[in-house]
Amino acid sequence: LKDMLYLVAAKCVGRQMDIEVQRAGLQFHVNMVLSPIRDGAGRVSGILCSLRDITAHKKLEASLRQMVEHQMQVIELKSRFITMASHEFRNPLAIIQTASDLLCTYDDKLPAEAKREELSRIRQSVRKISDLLDDVLLLGRVESGNLKFTPELLNLDDFCQYLISDFELLAGEGHHLVYVKPEVPQPVYADPRLLQHILGNLLSNAIKYSPLGSTVTLEVMQKNGHVILSVRDQGIGIPAEDQKNLFEPFHRASNVPHIPGTGLGLTIVQQAVELHGGTISFESQEEVGTTFIVKLPRRVPKAEPS
Ligand SMILES: Nc1ncnc2c1ncn2[C@@H]1O[C@H](COP(=O)(O)OP(=O)(O)O)[C@@H](O)[C@H]1O
Ligand SMILES: [Mg+2]
Repeated sequence: LKDMLYLVAAKCVGRQMDIEVQRAGLQFHVNMVLSPIRDGAGRVSGILCSLRDITAHKKLEASLRQMVEHQMQVIELKSRFITMASHEFRNPLAIIQTASDLLCTYDDKLPAEAKREELSRIRQSVRKISDLLDDVLLLGRVESGNLKFTPELLNLDDFCQYLISDFELLAGEGHHLVYVKPEVPQPVYADPRLLQHILGNLLSNAIKYSPLGSTVTLEVMQKNGHVILSVRDQGIGIPAEDQKNLFEPFHRASNVPHIPGTGLGLTIVQQAVELHGGTISFESQEEVGTTFIVKLPRRVPKAEPS
């Protein structure tokens, strides 16, 4: 300020600056303009100081900057996602191309067994592409806000019982599915479609990544206004070095190359849990098993009827 005053007085030029003022816990932004006042002889006889409150202007500027930064991040994320997704599609497409070329070129020379093998590679790749498309579209709907969070008062006990019997049918003799509840779960405010995605994905992972004959347990507990849903398996576990990236799109652990999957399931699960205002975590040890733990608030205040 001293330097400015000196400049205005000595050089007879106007100056302005924005100042941040902190007073009684409040923060203001002020625009200060200093203009020289000249006497008849042209000498500086005084300085005119005008102050303007620009707090609202500064706030608007900051929120606009934040919005632009957020949009840039979304654009960056989307383009990274598209690059990754196209890469994931290329692999099965290349397999289909090679196998069908082989079948066309050597149709009469290939033994029946080799033909069956190539056809099965084609079928697996088509399956992988169609799973990828389903998951990418679902994730897109979650991220663009098109998969709406519509909570309702849900009978959690019935919901889990139905889900487990569905999965029992699906798993057949392969796995034992167990539903455990220390006490009968109270109803919760949850979105049944999203909850179906959450538990369905975790249960199918538990089955997919554990040996035939092992047990998969769904446990429901209630604690301090939260519902804790855990899915436990006795499977191959998750290597320590893969654990920190597990919820990233397309991330698959190093011990599952022979098991088909898209690496998008957990990303979708995490988003669906977050829409409920909940959290998801896991504990895992290789060759021992994995437990995924979903913690949901029992009540979703916004959706609660008055
Ligand atoms: N219950 C589990 N046991 C062992 N590994 C798991 C389990 N659940 C998830 N994973 C690991 O996390 C990765 C990501 O899971 P997910 O997003 O569902 O994709 P995927 O389509 O591969 O199942 C899996 O590829 C696997 O490596
Ligand atoms: Mg999965």
